[in-house]
Amino acid sequence: MDLSPWQTPLSYIGLATLAYTTLKFTRSATTFLLPTSLNTYNRTKNNWALVTGASDGIGFGFSQELCARGFNVILHGRNRAKLDTRAAELRAEFPTRRVEIVVRDVVGLTVDVDEIAVEVKCILEAQGGELSVLINNVGGEVRPYTVLSDYSFEEVERTISMNAGFMTQITRVLLPVLEAGSGAVITNVSSVSAFGMPYISVYASTKGFVDTFTKALEAECKAEKRNIEVLGLRVGQVKTAGFDVQAGLFVPDARTLASAGLNRVGCGRVIVWAYFWHWLQGLSFDILPRSMLMMISSKKLMALKKEEEEKAKNR
Ligand SMILES: NC(=O)c1ccc[n+]([C@@H]2O[C@H](COP(=O)([O-])OP(=O)(O)OC[C@H]3O[C@@H](n4cnc5c(N)ncnc54)[C@H](OP(=O)(O)O)[C@@H]3O)[C@@H](O)[C@H]2O)c1
Repeated sequence: MDLSPWQTPLSYIGLATLAYTTLKFTRSATTFLLPTSLNTYNRTKNNWALVTGASDGIGFGFSQELCARGFNVILHGRNRAKLDTRAAELRAEFPTRRVEIVVRDVVGLTVDVDEIAVEVKCILEAQGGELSVLINNVGGEVRPYTVLSDYSFEEVERTISMNAGFMTQITRVLLPVLEAGSGAVITNVSSVSAFGMPYISVYASTKGFVDTFTKALEAECKAEKRNIEVLGLRVGQVKTAGFDVQAGLFVPDARTLASAGLNRVGCGRVIVWAYFWHWLQGLSFDILPRSMLMMISSKKLMALKKEEEEKAKNR
């Protein structure tokens, strides 16, 4: 006796899988259609955002976009002269915004990191307004395209501090300052490498930490009924000082990426792709088998390694 296709359990499993995949895809795609709720964190037009690693790249892009959207900004970085120059650029472009700086090397941290809260409170007391946005952006690869055994002790420590250690510490010390206001958002910059990429194993793992930290903190803030939104931004390739590649549709510049990231605030998800075209690329991570993905990634990263070596030779 022939069974109709709908009389076999396999058809229902197939249908359920299709429905689940369609729902997942639609839910993730609608993230890009929702309006941002960023302005709810600056109702008085007098609020502050602190951006880490703000003297260059995506961090400076976030600072420009936040000023453009009416926030005063505290720039964090390690180089006071460069931060002063960046602050002057922002004041020239956005004369009605106030810009301050906080200087800290994120490598070799000591308990002095706690003083950042005091510095931020001093800025708020002197200038008015609340701290309502923290962008944990600082990070990067210390020694790109290298196998783990070729890293030195110091390089491993630096990578972990830059991408995970400082983010955790500054969030810890600024949480009470953020909580003291009338609502805040913490945004952590992650990376496509969090999927676990070869040749950047330490960096990729720190971004895995960023993702888990984001999810845990979001859940903790909810459980504690803190008026704090926590959002993780997954980022693909971006043309910046730290990653000098050809810009294009799939490789935005820093400000475009930052703008896209701010547009995701209030989307209701904890970890999202910041930029639509990165999301589209990222779909392959859900669809393709890991073995195939890692084969493609290894080839891509090896090509980037060769490119870097060529550039180094010609310098
Ligand atoms: N670019 C990409 O393709 C890409 C892709 C995925 C994720 N991301 C993530 O996006 C974030 C920003 O990356 P980016 O490409 O914009 O980096 P970038 O252009 O290299 O800028 C990094 C920023 O961090 C600061 N910084 C570096 N080391 C520091 C230290 N020891 N202490 C204090 N500040 C320090 C730099 O200061 P100086 O100006 O003094 O150097 C600069 O302001 C990172 O978290 C990165 O992992 C980037």
